[in-house]
Amino acid sequence: MKDTIIFAIETSCDETSMAFVKNGNEVLGMTVLSQMDTHANFGGVVPEIASRMHTENITMVFEDILTQSDLKMTDVDAIAVTYAPGLLGSLLVGVEFAKVLSLVYNKPLIAVNHTMGHIFANQINNELKYPLLSLIVSGGHTDLVLMKGSYDIEILGSTIDDAAGEVYDKVARVLGLPYPGGPNIDKLAKEGANTYSLPTPMKDNTYQFSFSGLKSAVINLVHNEEQRGNKIRKNDLACSFQEAVIDELKRKVELALKNTGVKEMILAGGVSANVKLRETLKDLCEEYQVNFHVPSFKYCTDNAAMIGAAAYSLYQKKIFSGFDLTAESSMDIKKYMEQMKN
Ligand code: KG4
Ligand code: ZN
Repeated sequence: MKDTIIFAIETSCDETSMAFVKNGNEVLGMTVLSQMDTHANFGGVVPEIASRMHTENITMVFEDILTQSDLKMTDVDAIAVTYAPGLLGSLLVGVEFAKVLSLVYNKPLIAVNHTMGHIFANQINNELKYPLLSLIVSGGHTDLVLMKGSYDIEILGSTIDDAAGEVYDKVARVLGLPYPGGPNIDKLAKEGANTYSLPTPMKDNTYQFSFSGLKSAVINLVHNEEQRGNKIRKNDLACSFQEAVIDELKRKVELALKNTGVKEMILAGGVSANVKLRETLKDLCEEYQVNFHVPSFKYCTDNAAMIGAAAYSLYQKKIFSGFDLTAESSMDIKKYMEQMKN
């Protein structure tokens, strides 16, 4: 069978990234230009600055990937781009650029959902076997889903309030740690002990997650201690918070492993870079004799290779977009699955 090479673009948040991906699982080249240092000055991503920087950087990133790889745009079978969800202005820069490439090189255009991209990061250098259980934990989403095929998804549960990554970022801010909060809490937690008593988010047997109560508990604890003039043991609090989040995620995953009996599990989204979470779920899966997969670190956070991987089966099914494709800022998996059916 002839190889399929997809050129992918990702600009949904603060990374401008492009990649060449072969057959949905082999990365032939990737460039990621992060704006993280700029946004760190503001304690979080500033949408207006993000879209402006994508506009400034996108041709540079395009030139860079063509220079560093042996491939030309004429070698490509399709152009894939993240169209949702994300920051509207940022997404639009990628979508419009993709349309231009599609028009100039006469290649089909593939619209990719960003969350599906995180899932398919697990397909890079790895074969996905269905049915599988997938936990998606990112800055905007926390979902536990059962995948019966590449785009055949049953949602078991989602967060009813904040996403896991979002809570990491908010707690980090209260602890005075720089943006992005997740990796910094992860680092600090390694130096601490689980000595602060925090509430268990949801003591129930559903697949739903809730993290806002935990977030409020940490914020209140910090404020109360400050008012009393007590010093916070930041590393212990980071550790206690992280344990509470991971405990919640683990409990729901265990419930799903028991109830579904699946033998394959994947972890996806930016929070999948968390070492403690990776280890906890790996051990849990071992206990249940389930094969556990997680992307290598560079494919955990936003990147274009995962978009190229997610585009592959859309290419095979010839699900292409016209030049009327536009960006959409909010699109959870449920809404996306409903759209796919129509
Ligand atoms: O998937 P992602 O790159 O962007 C979204 O699509 O949302 O996820 C970013 C999120 C941020 O909230 C960041 O703090 C979190 O992933 N994150 C982490 C770690 N690395 C990134 N959270 C916990 N531990 C980490 N090591
Ligand atoms: Zn992401």
